Amino acid sequence: MGRCTRDDLEAVVEAAAWAPSVHNSQPWSFALDEDEIILRADTDRRLRAADPEGRELLLSCGAALFNVRTAIRATGCEPLVRMLPDPDRPALVARVRIGPAGAVEEETKMLREEIPRRRTHRAGFIPRPVPPRLLDLLVKEAEREGARLTPVRSVGAVRVLAALTSAAQDVQAQDRSFSLEMIRWGRPPGSRHRDGVPADAYPQQARRTYPHFAQRDYARGQGWGDRGDQPMATQTGVVALLTTGGDTRADWIQAGQALQAVLLHASAYGVCAAFHTQLLEFRHLRDFVREELCSPEFPQMVMRLGYPVRHTRGVRRTLPDVLEQA
Ligand SMILES: Cc1cc2nc3c(=O)[nH]c(=O)nc-3n(C[C@H](O)[C@H](O)[C@H](O)COP(=O)(O)O)c2cc1C
Repeated sequence: MGRCTRDDLEAVVEAAAWAPSVHNSQPWSFALDEDEIILRADTDRRLRAADPEGRELLLSCGAALFNVRTAIRATGCEPLVRMLPDPDRPALVARVRIGPAGAVEEETKMLREEIPRRRTHRAGFIPRPVPPRLLDLLVKEAEREGARLTPVRSVGAVRVLAALTSAAQDVQAQDRSFSLEMIRWGRPPGSRHRDGVPADAYPQQARRTYPHFAQRDYARGQGWGDRGDQPMATQTGVVALLTTGGDTRADWIQAGQALQAVLLHASAYGVCAAFHTQLLEFRHLRDFVREELCSPEFPQMVMRLGYPVRHTRGVRRTLPDVLEQA
């Protein structure tokens, strides 16, 4: 084992839990076993209507795994990852052994600092273009993690994605099982829950952008949401697709790691992501996007990137809630 103490390992788990997850469901648990951190998927937290296969659940766990690796590196140790190490225990996402100690790179320090700082955005962006060099960097970081990030340059393709997001959102709003999931995870103002989406994590009334990407309706018509006006938040931002060559459970975990690599690098330059995954929750719409816009790759995430007016608040479960005894 490297130089990691028990306190270091607990800090790694705390960092892992700051990963993004669908509806902030935080579908994970951790255990410490000597010099290993064990990451398990918590399938009780899976979205049964939106995510029957557990694709978004494993993307979320993949993002947490990237945080584990980054936080271990930031202690000066090397993470040695065994992903899906036991085919008989599908919820076992990864075992990460603490490898030999070495020097900490500046980039690792920077990413580690962004882990609790990064936030999901749910409105338009200010009129400030994301520099092409930053986009190139994000594309490279996704590639390093085994996925592909493609900024969607065609105006027509962006319009198609916006229209499909809107259609998917409208269908979900009328579907009882999807609505029940929004009730489960969309928190009312003042909620003390440490999971789910808090009412101040989205604006009460987001300004329309063109093209407009429908937001999830966490408030469900009850007028919740941050009341601050955001007159500058008028831009769609850069629409980007995160895709993988395969569509297995391992690909989903890989996509989650790539997602978090992209988000942390973007965050270091002040750029936030908004997600619009409603359309990927319908098999036929996901197939359509695959065939029309990313063939032969599989779409894993639809996002917009840009500069926010302000950051929202993040909540997470505490260490005792996510750390099990091995
Ligand atoms: C797989 C996945 C899908 C997501 N889909 C959406 C989405 O469709 N709309 C949205 O507003 N946020 C989406 N999110 C963001 C989560 O809601 C967010 O990560 C969570 O609420 C925690 O907040 P934070 O990212 O600000 O820490 C998604 C996140 C993940 C990992």
